[in-house]
Amino acid sequence: MRTVEGAVLHFAVRSREVRRFAARPRGVRSGRLLATIMNRRGIATSTVVRYSQNIMPKIDLLEMIDISKSFHTIRANQRVNLRIGSGEILGLLGENGAGKTTLMNILYGLIAPDSGEIRINGQPVGIQSPRDAIGLGIGMVHQHFMLIENHTVAENIALGLSDAPFLSPSRHVARRLSEFGERFGLKINPQERIWQLSAGEQQRVEIVKALVKGADLLILDEPTSVLTPQETEQLFVILRRMSAEGHSVIFISHKLEEILSICHRVMVLRKGEVAGKAETKDVDKRELARMMVGREIIFRIERPALKRGELVLEVRELVVPGDRQQVAVRGVGFQVFGNEIFGIAGVSGNGQRELVEAITGLRRASEGEVLLGGQDITNATARVVASRGISHVPEERIRFGIVPNLFVYENAVLKQHRQRLFSRVLFLNFGSIRKYASAIIERFNVSVPTIDTPVKNLSGGNIQKLILGREISGQPVLLVAAHPTYGLDVGATEYIRRQLLEKRGEGLAVLLVSEDLEEIFELCDRIAVMYEGRFMGIVSTAQATMENIGLMMAGSMPEIAGGGADPIPADAGRGLE
Ligand SMILES: Nc1ncnc2c1ncn2[C@@H]1O[C@H](COP(=O)(O)OP(=O)(O)OP(=O)(O)O)[C@@H](O)[C@H]1O
Ligand SMILES: [Mg+2]
Repeated sequence: MRTVEGAVLHFAVRSREVRRFAARPRGVRSGRLLATIMNRRGIATSTVVRYSQNIMPKIDLLEMIDISKSFHTIRANQRVNLRIGSGEILGLLGENGAGKTTLMNILYGLIAPDSGEIRINGQPVGIQSPRDAIGLGIGMVHQHFMLIENHTVAENIALGLSDAPFLSPSRHVARRLSEFGERFGLKINPQERIWQLSAGEQQRVEIVKALVKGADLLILDEPTSVLTPQETEQLFVILRRMSAEGHSVIFISHKLEEILSICHRVMVLRKGEVAGKAETKDVDKRELARMMVGREIIFRIERPALKRGELVLEVRELVVPGDRQQVAVRGVGFQVFGNEIFGIAGVSGNGQRELVEAITGLRRASEGEVLLGGQDITNATARVVASRGISHVPEERIRFGIVPNLFVYENAVLKQHRQRLFSRVLFLNFGSIRKYASAIIERFNVSVPTIDTPVKNLSGGNIQKLILGREISGQPVLLVAAHPTYGLDVGATEYIRRQLLEKRGEGLAVLLVSEDLEEIFELCDRIAVMYEGRFMGIVSTAQATMENIGLMMAGSMPEIAGGGADPIPADAGRGLE
């Protein structure tokens, strides 16, 4: 059934393509025409794809000149100039809401600029749609996933490929993918459905999708936010290979080390304007942060020692099934106390997501118990879990954290809208909802035009700040936070980490899932490392080293100085005595 659906969609894409055909630049037109004819005649499609890649136009120099774009009162881009040459990797930096995604959406034809011009190899080009951009050799991997969840990897990729065969396009794509995976070392299973994949794996599909289309200039909008360090390294290998072959890359990231390690040049946007440009060899992390934020950023935060509070969460021998008929969590037990941040480190896909979902009522556990303040909440619904005082910042915020089409003020009270403050009998009290939303926005520095804006129009980082603000403001007893600073700029990251430590000081228990070891070490009192559905051990941060935790993340058990290599002593902890 789904294959039929895929074929119908594919047909729709193709017929629209035929109408757009005449608008293509010449070289592309003849290549695609040949490809289409060859397809119809049943000529080997891999030859066709290879052929169409060869005729993809070469971008020796791309220029964006004086680009401006406003949304109502917000000036997202103001007279921005950008140049990128063949083989260059350009880093694009800027605070949340600085206008990076807007600028790239303009280049990819998703948004029309108010003024300005784009030139390729000195010639002005009109990019009215992503199809035009793809035709010109521009590919983009978006900040948020654009995949169809019920379809397989191969079907998703086939949908975007104009020269896939009409019959069984996904089988053709699957073949292409395995070739491609081997060439670039990016392995993905074409038969898996998107909803079964972890965030990191979905990101990989997006990257492969753009590359398979033969992009000469690739735009990557925060591609590494959800990748593991190993996956990021693999991506960098690909990017370096692309650069050596003369392809260009525009790389957006909030991780300054990444920009410094992979990019040749960097351009910084602040409030829609170019705040600076530099060769990466001439700048360091501190200088980049200052350019971005306009002030000095402190990269280390103090975590004061605190007396351990009451037992808040107890998880006993929890077993949770995954989405692929496997057991994702294989008997995990731990306790989290008030005044404590308990970190779960590990490479994503080792059961962290399923564990968090079982605790927050989004997935059923098959064995074991979850106790909150001594009361059994095993397999309670998400609504009950929330009403007992568990807040949740989910891994996939667009899917689980917000309702994109609702306004900012409505999103600010999601899950709490039944409280008496916000509703009476059947009616919502919009006055107090709006007041509450405005307070969150002010306190968490969320940049929004008004609270009547649909939340989907906020920049990625601002959506994240809004979710965090909502979850922390509801006076929870336990906050379960998965990757809470993913997608946040350095200033906002510093702010959120301080907020978490402040809440810890007020007695909150925090369960923090993160792949960012720096974040784990900075915030957590104790660290558990999850590997293949089990905890490798729980160690106090004082006894742990990055190296040891890294080894445990890879599945081996190190000797920890001071006898701390204790597999799961539930009360191991520093500063908690
Ligand atoms: N469709 C839209 N309607 C209204 N405002 C918008 C729209 N798209 C973007 N904006 C606003 O334009 C500004 C720039 O947003 P943009 O998404 O380009 O930021 P960004 O630099 O990518 O930030 P982040 O790092 O958080 O992803 C933001 O203030 C955002 O709210
Ligand atoms: Mg963005």
